[in-house]
Amino acid sequence: MKDKPKKNDLAESLLVSLIDLNPQTEDFLTAVMDGLSAATKALPCKFFYDENGSRLFERICSLKEYYPTRTEISILEESVAEIAELVGRGAHLIELGSGASVKIRTLLNALPDLAQYTAVDISRDFLLQSAVTLASDYPDLDVAAVCADYTKPFQLAVPQNRKSVRNVAFFPGSTIGNFTPDEAENFLAGLTGVLGSGSGLLIGVDLKKDADILHAAYDDADGITAAFNLNLLSRINRELGANFDLNTFRHRAVYSEDLSRVEMHLVSQKSQIVTIANKSFNFAAGEHIHTENSHKYSVSDFRRLCSKAGYVPVSSWTDRNDQFSVHYFTAK
Ligand code: AVI
Repeated sequence: MKDKPKKNDLAESLLVSLIDLNPQTEDFLTAVMDGLSAATKALPCKFFYDENGSRLFERICSLKEYYPTRTEISILEESVAEIAELVGRGAHLIELGSGASVKIRTLLNALPDLAQYTAVDISRDFLLQSAVTLASDYPDLDVAAVCADYTKPFQLAVPQNRKSVRNVAFFPGSTIGNFTPDEAENFLAGLTGVLGSGSGLLIGVDLKKDADILHAAYDDADGITAAFNLNLLSRINRELGANFDLNTFRHRAVYSEDLSRVEMHLVSQKSQIVTIANKSFNFAAGEHIHTENSHKYSVSDFRRLCSKAGYVPVSSWTDRNDQFSVHYFTAK
């Protein structure tokens, strides 16, 4: 007997069109082995986001010390009429790294005549879940989901209801700050190829500020960011059968004025040997694993970076304390 379609499958097939580009996820084991074999040990920050890490990140976003999320939302809410004017009528809005967040809803509420909203994310389940929820909350909106690694070139289909359409990408959260400036420029230059000439880019970027504010944001009093950072070691233990003792590593966040970035590290509290997949890694007491960079820009620095990447700056908005910025660019 044929299986009855599950309720979710049915809802998904009715509400959202899914384009699955089958993104190749970088092999976790290879990345960990390479990163811990390097002279300066490092792990890629993209591996923070397993189920537990994503849950911890959600908690970070509502911490009082972590100003970026609420500040970006306040800028979007205040500037949404101007943003809607720039996006224009009948555009195709594409969210990179789709979230179930209030940010996209703020935009959708002000843009009632979009040709389509497309969510792009590497995590298929999360992508579908949030796209289906949005489709049911906005029944007049065409919602598509593209399962892809948006840091690599990918293709966007023209919405079915149009012959051609202007694309506008939405890249919130200062995720661009997790790239180095060179990587950010390359990524944004590549994105113009995906979006096409004349497209829009609405992007949230964290600003340079007092080191104390940054330090608190990345080392909060409740230890949620520390747990988020240490979860990377739990994930290596869980998924790769390693034997990291979490009590012997400490979270550390430092702001480098020279590089305009907050760096997160995990610091070994003693000399020790950790085994991962039958390979031993020596840690000296005080040795660091570098786990994340979060670059901070001035408004003018970021506009310059985007100009080099092939965009024309159109508008930039900040909050009244100059903590965070949202920019609108058009691709040349
Ligand atoms: C996702 N990204 C923009 C966050 C940031 O602020 O760099 C990740 C994060 N790391 C620690 N706290 C939040």
